[in-house]
Formats: sequence, structure tokens, C-alpha cells
Amino acid sequence: MTYAIGVNDQKGLQTIYWGQRLEGPSTLVSAKAYPEAASFDPSVSATPLEYAGWGGGLPTQPALKISFPDGNRSLLLDYLDSKQTDGPNGDQLEITLRDRLAEVYVHLFYKVYATGILARWSQIENRTKGVITVEQAASATLNLPPSTSYELSSLTGRWGAEWQLHTVPLVPGHSVLESRRGSTSHQSNPWLAIGRTGETTETSGPVWFGELGWSGSWQIDVEQTYSHRVKITGGYNTFDFSYPLAPGQLLKTPIFYVGYTNKGHGEASRILHRFQQKQILPGAPTPKPRPIIYNSWEATEFNVNEAGQLALAEKAASLGVERMVIDDGWFGQRVTDHAGLGDWYVNQTKFPHGLKPVIDRVHQLGMDFGIWVEPEMINPDSDLYRKHPEWAMSFPGRPRTEARNQLVLNLARDDVKQYLLTFLDKLVSENDIAFLKWDYNRNWSEPGWDAVPLPEQKEIYVRYINNLYEVLAELRKRHPKLEIESCSGGGGRVDLGILRYTDEVWPSDNTDALDRLSIQDGFSQAYTPGVMVAWVTDVPNFLDRRNIPLEFRFTVAMTGALGIGSDVTKWTPDESALATRLVAFYKTVRSTVQQGALYRLIAPEASEQSAVEYVAEDRHQAVLFGFLHSQHYGEPFQTIRLQGLEPAALYRVKPLDPSKAPGLPQQITGSELMGPGISLHLIGDYDSTAIVFEKVDHK
Ligand code: DGJ
Repeated sequence: MTYAIGVNDQKGLQTIYWGQRLEGPSTLVSAKAYPEAASFDPSVSATPLEYAGWGGGLPTQPALKISFPDGNRSLLLDYLDSKQTDGPNGDQLEITLRDRLAEVYVHLFYKVYATGILARWSQIENRTKGVITVEQAASATLNLPPSTSYELSSLTGRWGAEWQLHTVPLVPGHSVLESRRGSTSHQSNPWLAIGRTGETTETSGPVWFGELGWSGSWQIDVEQTYSHRVKITGGYNTFDFSYPLAPGQLLKTPIFYVGYTNKGHGEASRILHRFQQKQILPGAPTPKPRPIIYNSWEATEFNVNEAGQLALAEKAASLGVERMVIDDGWFGQRVTDHAGLGDWYVNQTKFPHGLKPVIDRVHQLGMDFGIWVEPEMINPDSDLYRKHPEWAMSFPGRPRTEARNQLVLNLARDDVKQYLLTFLDKLVSENDIAFLKWDYNRNWSEPGWDAVPLPEQKEIYVRYINNLYEVLAELRKRHPKLEIESCSGGGGRVDLGILRYTDEVWPSDNTDALDRLSIQDGFSQAYTPGVMVAWVTDVPNFLDRRNIPLEFRFTVAMTGALGIGSDVTKWTPDESALATRLVAFYKTVRSTVQQGALYRLIAPEASEQSAVEYVAEDRHQAVLFGFLHSQHYGEPFQTIRLQGLEPAALYRVKPLDPSKAPGLPQQITGSELMGPGISLHLIGDYDSTAIVFEKVDHK
């Protein structure tokens, strides 16, 4: 893409162009402030500023609003200077703006990645002699070319139903995507994509897209002015925000990652997936493929114990599972969700010999070992709470709202941060733990912090998250082999902030394979399938009571990072044999699924049929998954045309089940797969299959 900015005649930093990459000599006009449209529409409201302070009559969304000690709240940001640094991971530009009258500086950062992503963030610096208060701070404002036909895609949901994709026309006014909940949230994910109605599809047309790297309260405001200018302002949520800056202090905003393509929503997702794999994930640019996990949560819930976990581990290993994870219930007095959070010692009744015998056996079985924690939470019924009631977030003297019988620890406090680090470090040092499933099962309710002076109390929104990142970073530093999953009662904490410290995420507690088709489709709009953990669980499903056959449950889970959460000790020999075969199959396509390019061929929302395809980075392998959840009128499955292959290359065809891919030759060219396409023989309810295509001359 090309992103062009300039300094206008009023010293304002202004967007000139954001869109399709321009080649050759540029004829772009230089930046120029727009004239006042009417006495009601001053120049600042029409001019597409890169980062507008609230002042000068700005009636639209500001990027920054501050108040001075005397109550003055006018801020006029003029261009001061810029410097460019080229680094191994991209080129970075720092532009400094300064208030016309006071020593308030704003440093705007622009970092360009080879994967096609522009990262933008800001730093607000107080060089005045008094304390200023930041009342609103965005990472960036992005201005779109004028148009009256934009449509906004976003991902919304709730517990058990995350990642619902919505696309609506933009109309004059504000469309606000946000979380006020202290964390990323199930309700809205900090991702957006803007296309043009009638022009943008999955495979073609312009898409401007972005996502925020922040795991706390966030906001993306999409504003269409009444003269059809569209600007996107994203960063800290403005609700309840207040951050004092003493002389010399800085406030850094989260990073807003943005991109553009003219190849539709599919390509926008692929750019993001590649960027996450190459630049964001802890293992970037070569993150390790996700191991196949067994997790007993749905099978046992809190009823974990040595004998039960060992029986599950033995069986899981025989199926080809690579990692055994003990979920909630192993610690403190944790029998239900009423007690125990905060007491991170092994429950002696459930594990009388500690964790060692289980871990040793898991290793003997050829798997590594992981364990569940929920470090930021506390049950009032816990030793930790009895010792440190003041660590729980609350407004003193006001009722505290419990959720799942638990309270949130105030991780903005340094003593709480130290406690987290100490117990996690001890747990991982004393036990051979390869993996932590890091859960977070409620939102904030009373974000009070009375231990600091009044003006600083709202810093909790920023300090909590920065401390969370620091704990994760330090833990990984001390234990370089440790892997971590971000889970928040399902997909409540998935964003590019947490993904810098976590290797995978749990997209939803909803494991019903039919619901999962659309949940995973929505997830894939914004995040790589390489972090999308998907378990095969028992039927009838705990949420929808649906009875979906095992093979369908497996193929759905195989389109992400496959895991198993069934009570495998109860599987029949036939079920076990099928599972063993499918696990072995998955291992042959795992790196293509997790790290390749995803093509959403048939979206699950549109009909009872759906299909996804993954192509390895070097295009030596592709894998196609097809799903039919309920046949109507005996309709045959529609022709599938693959994408992203080498047209002239010859591919060897390896169907998971040849009877479901009738008439397919043993070898076929990429152009035939992409042109005439192929047929799948899927019939009845919950039928599915997979086909692998491997380049014949691949060395
Ligand atoms: C919510 C998670 O999403 C589940 O997978 C499970 O770990 C439970 N918490 C345990 O309390």
C-alpha cells in the first residue's frame, strides 16, 4: 500500500493518501489545509489531520485531549520535526508535534513492515512545569479517501458466541467499537475492516483494515462526517480515562496496526495472518507449530485427580496427542468455582504425591505437560484473600461485584505484580511445565485504586495491562521454553498486545462443531489459524446438546490447532481408531494449516455448505476441508475452485476418504483445481472431508 502524509500551510500534519500502492513518479498534491466549509464547519473539521488535538474548534473525534493545571483545555498540535530510523524489522519514522503555546510534545511513530503492515502509536510528553492531565489519548487517526459507500466489518459476540462477523454501511456519525471492561472482551474485538459496498468481496475490492495491540479497555471510533469524510481513531478507551503527566513524564499509547489491499477480505486476513506469524508471535518469524493438546476440562471439570488424569494421559498418548494439560481444579481448596483462586499450591487430596508422578508419567508417554492458572483473580474464600483483602480491585466502602464468585486482583499494584511473578516462577521452576493455560474469567466492575493519590487512581487502566505484559515477558525470559495460551472464558482476551507474549489462544468455550464453523470463520478474519486452538469434545455438546459425528468434530478442529477435550477413556475401539487416524493425518498438514495462507472458499454463514483451503508458504502443499451440516433437497455439494496454487504445477491428490472425492485423478494441475475445480461427495447431515494436494516435483 501507499501511505502519504505531509505538513500543510497551517503546520498541520495531514493525510494525503492511503490506499493502493502507487508506482512511478508521484503526482500527489502536497498537503493543504481545507478551507472553512461554513461558519459551523471550521478548517480543522474538514482537514484530514493525522493526529488532532482538541482545540481550534475541532468538533470531530480528537486523537488527544488534555487539560492544563489552570483548567485550560485547548491543544493545537503543529509539526515540529521528524527523523527516520531503518531497522532489521522495518523502517521507522518519528514525527514530533508540539502545542503552539505550551511545551507539550506528541511523538508519532510510523513503522513499516515488509509484510505490508503499518504500525502507528504515539507518545505524549509533558515538558511544561506543571502537571497536565491526559483525558483522551489515541494511538493514531487514519483518514480514508472520501466516499459515500463505505461499509464497516466488525467482530462482536458474547461468552460462547464470540467472533460474529457483521458488515454494515457507514452513515454520517460515529460507529464506536470498544471495550470498557478492563480487558479486550468477548463483546467486541479490536479489529475492523472497511470496504466499499458493491465493490468489496472476499476475493476482490478495496479493504482498509486494522487491529489494536491492547488487552485493556480500548476504543476504535469510526467517524463519517456530514461531508462524507471518514476517519478512524483508535487507542485507549476514552471512557473514565484520566492520566496525569508530571513534568518530564511520557504516556505511550498502544500500537494500532493497519493495512490496505485491493484484493478483498480474504487477502486482508492473509496479510494479518502473515504479519502475526512473522512479526508478532513470541516465536516470530518462525513460531513453532502448535502441539496437539489433550485437556480434560470438559471431561472432568473441577474433578481432577492423579488417577483420573493419568488414565486420560495414557489414552491421549495412544491417540498421538503431544501435550497433556491439567485444567482448573488442581490447586488450593478448589472443588467448585467458589474457592481457591489465589492459592497456587497443589491440592493434597487430589494429588497426594504432588504433580511430579503425573508429570513424570506424561513425559514417559512422550508428551510434555501443561497446567491451567488464573493468576489475576482471587476468590474471597482463599488464603490469599484472608491475607491481602486490599489486593482485590474495589471502590472502598461500596459493594463489590463478584462474578463466578471471584474478584479481580489489582495488578496495577507493584506488590500484586511481584506476587504473580513469584508464584508463577516458583510453579514453573519446581515442576517440569512446558505450557501454561492462562485464564481470565470475568471483567472489571469497580476499578478503584485508593492506595495511590486521587489524580493517579485512573492510571489503573494503563498500569494494570503494562504490568500484565511485564509479568508475561519476565516469565518467558526466565523460562525460554515455556509456552502460554491466552484464554478468557473462551475468546475474551485475543488481541495483538497479548499475542506478543502468548503462543496460542482459546477462541471460545463453545466447542459445538457447527457453531465452531462460524466462530472460527469470524476468528480467521482477524487472527491466524496458527493460534486458534480447537478441541474435539464429547456429544451431546454441553452447550447446544447437538450430536455431531466424531469425524465432523475432528475435521472442524483440524482447521486450527487441533486438540482433544473428550473423555477419551470412554471412546470405543472404533472411535479410538478413527481418532488415531485423524490425528496422524493432521500431523501431515499441520504446518500448512497453521502457517500457510488461508482461503475461505465457501463461508459457513451463507449456506449449509462451507469450505476452507490452506496453502503452504512455498506452495508445495495445499489442504482443502469441506463441510456439509445438513443437506436440503438432495442438492449436490457445489463445485469447489481452489485458490493460491501454482497454475502450471502438477499436484498429487491425497484424499482423506477417496469415496468423498470421486472421479479425482491421482495428479492434477493447479490451473485445473483453480479453474474447472472439483466436486466433493458429501451427503446427509454433518458430512465432511479433507483432501491434500502435494506438488509432484517438490524436493
Ligand atoms: C474457562 C475456560 O475457557 C475453560 O476452558 C476452562 O479452563 C474453565 N475456564 C476453567 O475454569
